[in-house]
Amino acid sequence: MKFSHPISENFHNYKKERYMNTGRSFSFLLWLLAVLSIFIFIFLSIPNPFTVTPQEHLTQSTTLSTKPEKDDEKCDLFVGNWIPDLNGSLYTNWSCSTIPNSKNCGKHGRKDVDFVNWRWKPDGCELPRFEPKTFLRIVQGKTLAFIGDSIARNQMESLLCLLSQDETPTDMYKDAEDRFRTWYFPSQNFTLMVFWSKFLVAAEERVINGSLSGIFDLHLDKVDEKWANKLPGVDYAIISDVHWFFRENYYYEGGNLLGCAFCNEENVTDLGFRFALPRVFRTALKYINDCKECSRELTLLRTFSPAHFENGEWNTGGNCKRTSPRTQGEGGTQWELGLGSIQIEEVERARKEGHKRFGVLEVTRAMMMRPDGHPGLHWNNEEIGMKGFSDCVHWCLPGPIDAWNDLLQAVLKKEG
Ligand SMILES: *[C@@H]1O[C@H](CO)[C@@H](O)[C@H](O)[C@H]1NC(C)=O
Ligand SMILES: *[C@@H]1O[C@H](CO)[C@@H](O)[C@H](O)[C@H]1NC(C)=O
Ligand SMILES: *[C@@H]1O[C@H](CO)[C@@H](O)[C@H](O)[C@H]1NC(C)=O
Ligand SMILES: *[C@@H]1O[C@H](CO)[C@@H](O)[C@H](O)[C@H]1NC(C)=O
Ligand SMILES: *[C@@H]1O[C@H](CO)[C@@H](O)[C@H](O)[C@H]1NC(C)=O
Repeated sequence: MKFSHPISENFHNYKKERYMNTGRSFSFLLWLLAVLSIFIFIFLSIPNPFTVTPQEHLTQSTTLSTKPEKDDEKCDLFVGNWIPDLNGSLYTNWSCSTIPNSKNCGKHGRKDVDFVNWRWKPDGCELPRFEPKTFLRIVQGKTLAFIGDSIARNQMESLLCLLSQDETPTDMYKDAEDRFRTWYFPSQNFTLMVFWSKFLVAAEERVINGSLSGIFDLHLDKVDEKWANKLPGVDYAIISDVHWFFRENYYYEGGNLLGCAFCNEENVTDLGFRFALPRVFRTALKYINDCKECSRELTLLRTFSPAHFENGEWNTGGNCKRTSPRTQGEGGTQWELGLGSIQIEEVERARKEGHKRFGVLEVTRAMMMRPDGHPGLHWNNEEIGMKGFSDCVHWCLPGPIDAWNDLLQAVLKKEG
């Protein structure tokens, strides 16, 4: 995501008071969600999302998705701990020329540097460190696309930094708003793309009194064609989303209004955001399963990426000032894991119902332990008129989000 002017305009236009007031009539949890959603709206104007189900289910499904081989037979890559690793990051804000301003935490005054000196250690095995040459060999001749909100973008930016340590990529394409982007690595004929989609499904923002309202009408049964049209030609798709569902949205199927979330209207049912999540992922994955022109390579669903506001919410002085990870079981909630498992259930369904290959990048557990990995106050908040607001949603580069690409490398190696 970019923290550029369009986003700050969104911020000012946004009726945050309305959200706050609405929120009070909901449970605290929902209020928290609403607040999170606004935050993400602003930052992500570039975006992301959740649900709750039992933890054991999550573990089962993730094991399923990694299809381990020989030595790592039983190893679930997504359950583990962060352990100290003084080797640090593969790159710095000097060595990565494409590092986005908003994630360049060092440049914006972050002084503690130890938060990059950790690596993800699955309980039952080692996760190999990302190697640009190895990764490029795996994806030789292929096209890989990240599809989703600003956190999908954040992972693409991390991968770009990691790969650019080996080869300078060619900047091939950028749309007017820098939401769709293409990079190319000539040595291995590898194409890296990002497709922006707030909801994965078709959505229109309501215009009220001539200005964008921040309220959306979502067609839960219709895929967002902006990314779907671009899918043929993509070999590896990494799909994600959730955060944009924490806001006032209206849900339709077959063109009929079913209800809404974070809403307050007498004649419309408040269904809650969890109503939408499984339907949205089902729609997206079904589209991929049914798409005749689309490659049969592999689709990965990257699960919910938790935010870490403490001592308030984004607009009430909430921040994220920790400088080291938590340990397994110490942070996070069933609620966060549950959002991941809703997504995983839909991946299982897609596997059963179709012939394409699906997997997950189950990052929720690992990232629940990384309250120290966000920009906090260290992003360009002054430049865009948001001085004093912390970003505890996105992830610093370099930072723990780089581990998502260690995981991606491991999963592609196994699946490919
Ligand atoms: C640093 O990396 C090397 C080679 O990959 C490895 O052998 C070593 O154990 C690592 N050091 C630490 C402190 O993890
Ligand atoms: C990189 O981060 C350091 C702080 O760690 C900062 O002093 C420097 O200005 C940053 N450099 C660039 C090119 O962003
Ligand atoms: C690059 O990969 C694409 C897709 O596999 C292929 O069609 C094309 O011929 C390749 N180009 C080169 C220069 O190898
Ligand atoms: C639209 O503008 C009119 C006139 O300024 C005002 O009365 C009305 O409350 C506004 N509606 C909304 C939804 O803001
Ligand atoms: C609900 O009521 C409002 C105000 O009376 C009206 O504008 C709207 O069209 C109604 N919506 C539905 C789905 O009936």
